[in-house]
Amino acid sequence: MTLFMIGLGLNNEKDITVNGLEAVKRSDFVYLEDYTSRLNCSEQDLEKFYSKKIILADRELVEKKADEILDEAIKKNVAFLVIGDVFSATTHIDLYLRAKEKNIEIKVINNTSILNAVGIAGLELYKYGKTTSLPFFEKSFRPETPYDVIKDNKKLGLHTLILLDIKKDQNKFMTVSQAVEQLLRIEKKRRKKVFTEDTMIIGCARIGSDDFKIKFRKSKELLNEDFGEPLHCLVIPGKLHFMEEKMLELWK
Ligand SMILES: C[S@@+](CC[C@H](N)C(=O)[O-])C[C@H]1O[C@@H](n2cnc3c(N)ncnc32)[C@H](O)[C@@H]1O
Repeated sequence: MTLFMIGLGLNNEKDITVNGLEAVKRSDFVYLEDYTSRLNCSEQDLEKFYSKKIILADRELVEKKADEILDEAIKKNVAFLVIGDVFSATTHIDLYLRAKEKNIEIKVINNTSILNAVGIAGLELYKYGKTTSLPFFEKSFRPETPYDVIKDNKKLGLHTLILLDIKKDQNKFMTVSQAVEQLLRIEKKRRKKVFTEDTMIIGCARIGSDDFKIKFRKSKELLNEDFGEPLHCLVIPGKLHFMEEKMLELWK
């Protein structure tokens, strides 16, 4: 039968496309990839809207026990739901390749992702460089990669999208101010003036929902700004075109 890989979009149960909803309705099992992002609605809201039972798929199920999902798709229709878009930010290429190996028919139904919805901030999507992720700092794990990515993108005049860490099992979602604080700590160590207290940055929250929030300020001014409920992300502008500057005026 068929493995449907379906993007759910960014906001709530109603962001699924008509094609996506039809595929869910035709499915015998419906899995929700549950560890890399978050919708502004509950699983119960999804179940009610789809009239289907949802099976939460944590990292272990998707990465280590993918065969369980795939073996079902040999005889039945299986829907694998991904928040955002199927192959954006977090790729599910591995699941796709494994399904191919098992000769399972696959149908991908796309949706919007933070990678393109961040366009609302007003910076041209064509002028973003490498995207980077900022993990929660731990005592012995303080990666500086995001700092280097900002530096390299800036050199080319490109914008940087920074995705912020999620620890869903602990209900922990990195906020804009936590991200700024961590990046300033790296700046203090590296001193290359890549991300200073005066660097103008864009803090974003809940893009794609009615109560999204965007602020364009000096990083030090976002340290104490409350962006509210997750999810949050950061954008560090590169070289700005006057139209981009005009749009950023809206968020000052
Ligand atoms: C690992 S990515 C997963 C992206 C998802 N698959 C997609 O296509 O949008 C999750 C991170 O992206 C950012 N993000 C995702 N959706 C967001 C939203 N609606 N508003 C702000 N940031 C968001 C957050 O930093 C979050 O921790």
